Amino acid sequence: MILVTGGAGFIGSNFVLDWLAHSDEPVLNLDKLTYAGNRRNLDRLEGDARHVFVQGDIGDTGLVARLLAEHRPRAVVNFAAESHVDRSILGAGDFIQTNIVGTFHLLEAVRGHWLDLPEAERAAFRFLHVSTDEVYGSLTPEAPAFTEQHAYEPNSPYSASKAASDHLVRAWHHTHGLPVLTTNCSNNYGPLHFPEKLIPLMIVNALAGKPLPVYGDGMQVRDWLYVGDHCSAIRRVLEAGRVAETYNVGGWNEKPNIEIVRTICALLDELRPRADGQSYTTQITYVKDRPGHDRRYAIDARKIERELGWRPAETFDTGIRKTVRWYLDNADWVAEVQSGAYREWVKAQYQGAA
Ligand code: NAD
Ligand code: TYD
Repeated sequence: MILVTGGAGFIGSNFVLDWLAHSDEPVLNLDKLTYAGNRRNLDRLEGDARHVFVQGDIGDTGLVARLLAEHRPRAVVNFAAESHVDRSILGAGDFIQTNIVGTFHLLEAVRGHWLDLPEAERAAFRFLHVSTDEVYGSLTPEAPAFTEQHAYEPNSPYSASKAASDHLVRAWHHTHGLPVLTTNCSNNYGPLHFPEKLIPLMIVNALAGKPLPVYGDGMQVRDWLYVGDHCSAIRRVLEAGRVAETYNVGGWNEKPNIEIVRTICALLDELRPRADGQSYTTQITYVKDRPGHDRRYAIDARKIERELGWRPAETFDTGIRKTVRWYLDNADWVAEVQSGAYREWVKAQYQGAA
């Protein structure tokens, strides 16, 4: 079996569902169930013996060591993290705790397990660390996309904490020999995305008749990848990636934020027109910019294509249409995640502007 951490979050739950759709190899899913973790994301696996869910913290060494000894996974895929830049600006404590200290404890527990394995299993073992393109910092408009050689220049508390975790993973290989792999992926979107991030926030606010809060001039560029493509990339890296290598994963889909918001409005105008016949674009509202806002991210994904033959299957047009449809078809999921805690967050972050 494999151990997946953070498998009740956005990408982790998509990964677990995708993994079990492609293979019968069981998944042990360790997730703390923070505000971002949602057991409902895994509803489809109810009663499926291939999925074992444990609520717990990657930083709980005793728990992780017990789980590793009991289940003897052949690999760990580490998604568990605090992941939202705006939250890291309002308070970075949880980011330092989970992304840095938690990753350290997880690495130590996994190292103990790995050292106990018989030689053949030890050689085949993998620790795959899921990271982000944000560790590379911000690009100017004309600069070439991030390659794996790009210097780490994280700018937000979130990206700095992820960069630190990447360095720990690297060191646990270099010093202790742990067979690690790291992926640095661009912005994901798709089903089960918590509506604090740009794309799901715009969809749910549009449908609720609320403002669509665009930070600054809306010309910041992100490189969007459909979540199912990220999952297939991780499966491929786990299967064939070279130990200690990092692989950049991206969708070749660079777009300014305002274009993303307009595309969502156009799709909703088509699929769920407003009762008053007006376009959803009338809800777009420019708001104060994010402090330290990175201007542009772009991923050069040629290494993973050249070495492992991976390419995204979705274009932005196909992926965003699927995503908007998913939110239209899953209003109950949206209503449930918009709990009291979510409403408090929106109030603190947007102060009436969303
Ligand atoms: P998410 O915030 O939706 O989910 C994170 C999950 O981790 C949640 O289920 C949460 O309960 C769990 N978690 C948090 N702290 C934990 C702890 N201490 N122990 C155990 N579980 C804990 O995040 P996501 O968007 O699914 O991102 C998953 C990973 O992918 C993160 O490491 C993130 O940095 C990385 N990543 C995300 C993106 C993106 O666009 N969302 C892009 C590239 C990389
Ligand atoms: P986000 O989804 O938070 O991802 P990240 O900051 O990790 O790239 O934001 C994507 C882009 O959208 C980013 O440039 C910030 C911008 N944004 C807005 O303009 N308005 C919003 O309400 C949010 C949440 C993000």
